[in-house]
Amino acid sequence: MKKKPTTDRYTLADIENWQAIVREVDPPIRLGVFGDPVAHSLSPQMQNAALKHCQIEMQYARFHIRPNELASAVSFLTGLDFAGVNLTVPHKIAAVGLVDELNENAKRIGAVNTVKINQGKLIGLNTDGRGFSRAIREEFSVDLRDLRVLILGAGGAGRAIALQCAQENCERLVLANRTFDKAKKLADDLVGFFAGPKVFGPVPRLHAIPWEEQAIRFQIGHVDLIVNATPIGLNRSDSSPIPAQLLAPHLMIYDTIYSESRTPFVSAATEAGARAANGLSMLLHQGALSFEIWFQREAPLEVMRAALAL
Ligand code: ATR
Repeated sequence: MKKKPTTDRYTLADIENWQAIVREVDPPIRLGVFGDPVAHSLSPQMQNAALKHCQIEMQYARFHIRPNELASAVSFLTGLDFAGVNLTVPHKIAAVGLVDELNENAKRIGAVNTVKINQGKLIGLNTDGRGFSRAIREEFSVDLRDLRVLILGAGGAGRAIALQCAQENCERLVLANRTFDKAKKLADDLVGFFAGPKVFGPVPRLHAIPWEEQAIRFQIGHVDLIVNATPIGLNRSDSSPIPAQLLAPHLMIYDTIYSESRTPFVSAATEAGARAANGLSMLLHQGALSFEIWFQREAPLEVMRAALAL
């Protein structure tokens, strides 16, 4: 009798011995997420619900792959007849150098969250930015082009979100990062998008600021949406990336973290009287876009949403 795989995580050692490991697995595992940590990932439950609903005979699994194992794990993918994978923390930037082709968007972001395997070639793409844009529209009924946005973090997720804001011609974009030079570099990369005629008083349309209380306090009155694109909030002991006293009721707060429904940032926002959402909606939409890349068909969004219990 054939058996289903458990929802346990697989490792590089399993990949190296794949045929023996998955011999009895049915439908076969041909998709997955590589991360470290990965145990918290909700992508398997969301993607497996979609695969089942669409009667696609594949399963999506979780793979605990450490940074020094990523190149090996990726090199095995074509031989294992995978359709694709998602990459999560900390692999999105490293994956750029491991695929055969990068689409324009992933190249510009400098990070890959979706790999599609096409005739033995690994193609790197990034659905985080578009997933973020859809999440903001859904959570707050507003488009990025009408918003002044402050992004905390300039890593893979921060860069994807910043590029999306720039491409949608948001009103203002402020970038804050612990390592200021990375925020500055990102602003320099995006400067061409902000040459247009939207002028809004004394503050620049595109601005990199240091991660300091005074600089952030000044920006609060000049932005509408603040996005946490750092890992702050993943650990239970983390405090809010911006304390509640600095926040204000006019703000919309989006936390890309979804480890708890009330992340520290969401709690701080609520305390300040601001509207807030955690990252589940972005997870949903970036996952639906990945599904569409792999299968060239519309993703069953409501099935995926239900699987996340959104
Ligand atoms: P991801 O792909 O999830 O964006 P990443 O590329 O490792 O992950 O980026 C993590 C981001 O969170 C970076 O902007 C990082 O800041 P640095 O550039 O200074 O490293 C930021 N970050 C991580 N831990 C942080 C902390 N404790 N406080 C502030 N920023 C933090």
